[in-house]
Amino acid sequence: MEIGIFPIFSFFMGTVMSGKKISRLVNDDKKYLFQNYGDRFPVSFVRGRGSILFDQNNRRYIDFLSGIAVSSLGYAHPALTRALHAQIERVMHTSNYFLNKEQIEAAKHISEYTFAGKTLFVNSGAEANEAAIKLARRFGKVKSHDCYNIITFTGSFHGRTYGSMSATGQEKIKKGFEPLLSGFITLPYNDFGKLSAELEYNNNVCAVMTELVQGESGINIASKEFIQNTANLCKEKNVLLIIDEVQTGIGRTGKFCAYQHFGIEPDILTFAKGLGAGIPIGALHAKDTIAKLLEKGSHGTTFGGNHLACAAAAVALKTIGKKKFLDTVTQKGEYIRARLKKSTAAFPYIKEIRGLGLHIGIELKRPGADLVKRALERGLIINCTSERIIRIMPPLTIDMKTIKEGLDILERIFLEAQE
Ligand SMILES: Cc1ncc(COP(=O)(O)O)c(C=O)c1O
Repeated sequence: MEIGIFPIFSFFMGTVMSGKKISRLVNDDKKYLFQNYGDRFPVSFVRGRGSILFDQNNRRYIDFLSGIAVSSLGYAHPALTRALHAQIERVMHTSNYFLNKEQIEAAKHISEYTFAGKTLFVNSGAEANEAAIKLARRFGKVKSHDCYNIITFTGSFHGRTYGSMSATGQEKIKKGFEPLLSGFITLPYNDFGKLSAELEYNNNVCAVMTELVQGESGINIASKEFIQNTANLCKEKNVLLIIDEVQTGIGRTGKFCAYQHFGIEPDILTFAKGLGAGIPIGALHAKDTIAKLLEKGSHGTTFGGNHLACAAAAVALKTIGKKKFLDTVTQKGEYIRARLKKSTAAFPYIKEIRGLGLHIGIELKRPGADLVKRALERGLIINCTSERIIRIMPPLTIDMKTIKEGLDILERIFLEAQE
C-alpha cells in the first residue's frame, strides 16, 4: 500500500508543505529501504534535548521509549556530547590490533559495577548473545564432546541472527528461517520443575540462558525463587548461567543489572542498548576462568569496541553506575507505576501494570496499537509489544516534570479508550 498525502494530513493535521515533505519521505522509504519494519510512523525526528524529541515541523514529543531502551541519557546529554565531539576529533576507529584506552575504561566500569571478569565489546545485542553462545559451547567442549546444548525459555527474545534467533523462545520470530541452529532446548519460563528434570537426565547442557525481565514479550519478570533455584542448580551441575541484560542492563531496572535484584551470581552477562546511550555497541562480560576459553583467533569483530563507541559507553557507564543515579531510576519507576495503578484502577481493559525501575509494562486485555498512535498524535512516544503490552522505557535521566506531563497525556488516552 502506498501511503499518500491524505492519511498523513489526517495523522498530523499539519500544513500542506510539511505533508508533502513527509509524503516524499514515506514514498522514498518504500522505494529505497527494506520493508521489514512495516509502515513506519509518518514522523521524522530531527533533534532532541533531554527527554524531548522534535520532529520535522519542530513539534515537541515526550519520549517514553528512548529508542527501545537505548537513549538512556536522553538527547544532547552534555557530558556524552562533549566526550563524543572530543573523540571524533581525536580518533574514531583503529582496529583491535591495537591497545584501546576507551575500551579499557569502559570494561573497568563494567567489572566495577558487576563482577570481576573480562569484557569483549561487539556491536549489538544479537552479537553479544552470539558470542555468549560460542563461549558456552567452548566451555561445553572442555567438559565433553557432546556438551553443546543451551537451555532457553518460552517468551524469551535474544536477537535476530541465527544463533540468537535459535535461542529465542518464540516461534513467530523463527518461522520461515529453518533450519535453525541446533542444540537449543526451550523450556517454560519460571518452571523450575521442568528445568531440574531436564538437567537431571541431560548431561549435555553447557548453559542456561535467560532474560530476568522479558522485554520484547511484555515485561515478564522472572520469579525470584525460580532464578535462585536455577542459579544454584547450574552451579551444582557445572552449567553456565548466561543472563541476557541487553534490555535490562545499564541501569534500566534501577540496579546496574537486573540480576542484582535476584541475589544471584551469573557467569556471563550480555549488554547492548543503553550501553552506548545511542551509539551502537554491545558487550559480553564473563568471569576470568570462562573468558579465557575464547583464546587467540577464536572470535573477533572489526568494529567491536571502537574508540568512538567505547567513549560513549564510558560516559554512560560512569553516569549510570552510581548508586545515587540508580536510586533515582527506582524512584521514578515507582512513581509511574503507583500513579498509573491508581488512575487506571477502574478501567477493566487494563489487566496489570508491572515492571522494575524504568522498565514498565501495562498489560491490556485488548490490542494496544491504536493507543500508541493516539499518544503520538498528542506528542507522547510509547510502544506496544506482544500486541497487548504498552511499554514505557523513558530515558533514565527524565525529570519528574516531564514524567508528569507524559502521564497526563497517557491517562487521557486511557480514559478515552475506556469511554
Ligand atoms: C533481551 C534482548 N536480547 C537481545 C536483543 C537483540 O539486540 P539487538 O537488537 O541489539 O541485536 C534484544 C533486542 O531487543 C533484547 O531485548
